[in-house]
Amino acid sequence: MTNTVQPGAVVDPARVRHPYFRDLVTDAASAVARIRHGDTVAISGFASAGTPKAFAPALADRIRRVRADGGELSVNLLTGASVASEAESLLAEVDGVALRMPYQSEPTARGKINDGRMDYVDIHLSHVAQQVWEGNYGKVDVAVVEVAAITEDGKLIPSMSVGNNKTWLEVADAVILEVNSWVPLEVEGMHDVYYGTALPPDRRPIMMTGPADRIGQPHLEVDPAKVVAVVPTNEQDSETAVTVPDAISQAIAGHVVEFFRHEVECGRMPADGLLPLQAGIGNVANAVLAGLADGPFTNLTCYSEVIQDSMLELIRRGTVTHASATSLALSRAGLAELVDNIDLYREHVTLRPQEISNHPEIVRRLGIVGMNGMLEADIYGNVNSTHIGGTRIMNGIGGSGDFTRNGYVSMFLSPSTARGGAVSSIVPMVPHVDHTEHDVQVIVTEHGLADLRGLSPRKRARVIVDRCADPAFRPLLHDYLDRATARPNAGNTPHILEEALSFHIRLAATGSMLE
Ligand code: COA
Repeated sequence: MTNTVQPGAVVDPARVRHPYFRDLVTDAASAVARIRHGDTVAISGFASAGTPKAFAPALADRIRRVRADGGELSVNLLTGASVASEAESLLAEVDGVALRMPYQSEPTARGKINDGRMDYVDIHLSHVAQQVWEGNYGKVDVAVVEVAAITEDGKLIPSMSVGNNKTWLEVADAVILEVNSWVPLEVEGMHDVYYGTALPPDRRPIMMTGPADRIGQPHLEVDPAKVVAVVPTNEQDSETAVTVPDAISQAIAGHVVEFFRHEVECGRMPADGLLPLQAGIGNVANAVLAGLADGPFTNLTCYSEVIQDSMLELIRRGTVTHASATSLALSRAGLAELVDNIDLYREHVTLRPQEISNHPEIVRRLGIVGMNGMLEADIYGNVNSTHIGGTRIMNGIGGSGDFTRNGYVSMFLSPSTARGGAVSSIVPMVPHVDHTEHDVQVIVTEHGLADLRGLSPRKRARVIVDRCADPAFRPLLHDYLDRATARPNAGNTPHILEEALSFHIRLAATGSMLE
């Protein structure tokens, strides 16, 4: 890449305060003209927040024009997690992405991946930075990072997510900065960017003992010599839509609150503040957090990956004193609430790089209570979060493994059925394992909560079926379990291997797991 940026475009001096960067201001089309076929491009964005706004439309447009001229242009795309679905779909529609890493949740990209037209590497989100530093993805040619502003001394005020931006800015050969005037300048100070991670054998302890600790700095650093373009934008983050909690989500939330009450009674969690909570993305997680608004717990903290709408409500009410995450995944109303009350949220929210928000060392030390969604669990507690029917990717493992493997209590929450009752979330054997029976401690559906801690596989199976499976599927599951257990040499974890995937085979053949 060579620097051919044309200077002179108009830019808000409050957003680009250092004159060196003002000379690099250009439009998105000129900026992406530098991207070459086969480049590895690492962009900001985590959930819907902080995705560069101008980059994907400009690159998709350029790909179309290059192809029309008989050329070829596609890139390897690295991100924090999912990015704004508009950006993901635009690039997928033009077959602009050869390899995608580490997470997506968008139908067009998902379709390309499942059709074998886009390579997809689905890894733990805490591993991304380290694996890129190790060189597992080759050289990063271009980083495209959205920021709120560039300061007088050339530091970057991050926008609404941090994700892997620190790493992208460090490793990329060339950097394009999008400066988004929609992001309130008062966001400055909400971020804590830690620069102390290293590859082995040079690692040192990460000195965090609580979700509100600040161990880094409020700004991102960039080597000015690598910055090849500064693109002004003024566009709000796209929303992460949430629905009003339905009866099923509310029932799940009720079981979780009851479980916390029980843990406090048993002395396993402190009555004041419980333990730091992590809630995955989605409507069920949002409903569980919303369920905490009605009490009885106070002084709660969260150490999570994303902050959803219900968290803002908990902060406003004073139920949550501090929430640490790497990104904000908010609805339109949530975004407006955040922007209108940015001073309040800056005080109670810290956004960190995802290698810190999801760091196994910190998750273990803080004693996180992890609550994530799943597609299905089997009768022994193995969980499939990612592959429908064992083969077709849904989204990816995201941060669920970071929190589940290392959490103090690791919970999976799901409706007991999917697809109008045709699919059971509890099956004899999952056809793909993301979280093993050794890590999964609690499973919750609208019917009840299965506490698997301290139970042998045979006992776990009874508890999962009796408490969590939908009543329509319980006879089938009991029948399987009874016959598996009655077999000679049934073993510690009884199965009938020739029938273990019968639910999935039946679903594929008839459209239902029911007989
Ligand atoms: N078999 C087939 N399809 C299933 C299914 C199953 N067992 N369970 C759910 N589905 C389908 C639903 O029908 C729905 O399909 P639709 O979009 O066509 O309606 C879809 O999967 C999503 O189901 P839903 O019940 O709305 O779940 P969700 O939005 O809570 O998401 C996961 C559940 C597992 C997909 C989601 O939690 C996830 O991607 N997890 C992995 C990453 C993660 O945990 N990230 C957070 C870490 S911080």
